[in-house]
Amino acid sequence: MFTLNDLAIPIIAAPMAGGASTPNLAVAVSDAGGLGFLAGGYKTPTVLAEQIVDVQQRTNNPFGVNLFVPQLPLIDRAAVEAYRDALARENPSAVFAEIDETDDDWFSEKVAVVIARQVPVVSFTFGLPPVDAVERMHTAGSFLIATVTSVPEARQAVDRGVDALCVQGPEAGGHRGTFTTRDEPGTLALGELLIAIREVVTLPLIVAGGIHSGGQIASLLAAGAEAVQLGTALLRTDESGAQQAHQDALVDPRFTETVITWAFSGRPARGLRNGFITAHDATVPHEYPQVHHLTKTVRADAARRGDPHGLALWAGTGFREAGTGSAATVLGALWADTHAAVVS
Ligand SMILES: Cc1cc2nc3c(=O)[nH]c(=O)nc-3n(C[C@H](O)[C@H](O)[C@H](O)COP(=O)(O)O)c2cc1C
Repeated sequence: MFTLNDLAIPIIAAPMAGGASTPNLAVAVSDAGGLGFLAGGYKTPTVLAEQIVDVQQRTNNPFGVNLFVPQLPLIDRAAVEAYRDALARENPSAVFAEIDETDDDWFSEKVAVVIARQVPVVSFTFGLPPVDAVERMHTAGSFLIATVTSVPEARQAVDRGVDALCVQGPEAGGHRGTFTTRDEPGTLALGELLIAIREVVTLPLIVAGGIHSGGQIASLLAAGAEAVQLGTALLRTDESGAQQAHQDALVDPRFTETVITWAFSGRPARGLRNGFITAHDATVPHEYPQVHHLTKTVRADAARRGDPHGLALWAGTGFREAGTGSAATVLGALWADTHAAVVS
């Protein structure tokens, strides 16, 4: 079975659902000595299986697949309807889908796919996989990683029998992996959260959130992390599939800060503050994935127009440092800076 010690470079490409994590990016990072990742979230099981085969045909190195854990049932349908009505008033020509209470992101089917393809590493976000799924994936030889954002979540993940934790700090771009949408996400900075979890957990820890320099990587590894996971730092690389408007916004002086918002999906996520967040953050119901499906229409329309104010511009606090060029170059430079920071 895979272990984090197998990596030549202890840097993991964060899984980024919505298009950024391409098979090309996963192959490039795994070939460069890090751990490349495919994002299973939102994709159909068929597309996920195709991407896994594509990666397996192009690299012999280990790689990972990330899955979204199904959510608790919808509580406040009326609030979601009110949000839909508000969006419809602003977008009179838009057609909104019916509110779906059954979407589980094809979780069981995707577990079957990673088992059939014997994926070396499988990570989870938004909660924990059920015990029987853990057992079946272990039997298939997968190394399992749970995303956690607090000490209580870390303890639950250990009890569930996973092999490592991805400790996600509040600096992280994209969705927080909190186990429920209603939890206020923790505010303990990544370095402190790592120390707090390290004190109570002996499993290997991966850290994620706002990491963009060798100095940060060196100090997180020295504080007990086995590896770092980077998302935003890879968004502008050649192999990234992030939309051009998203990539451009990361260096656009009109976007000056990131905020945690529920506005796009009903789940806390960090992104560049834009017009949609400013207009809707105060009224959005905390219902995921129903809000995610509602805003699809608005986001697709903004994508057609190349309008960054209607897109979910997910980004961590280190967004201004996101480098360009090949993923291998970005990874190599960060790792060289890490060594330099250790020596200095
Ligand atoms: C565009 C984007 C999409 C993301 N999608 C996922 C995802 O599908 N699954 C997941 O576990 N984490 C996802 N994340 C969070 C990352 O796993 C990671 O925690 C985060 O990128 C770390 O912070 P950083 O972006 O500052 O490096 C996403 C992050 C970004 C920026």
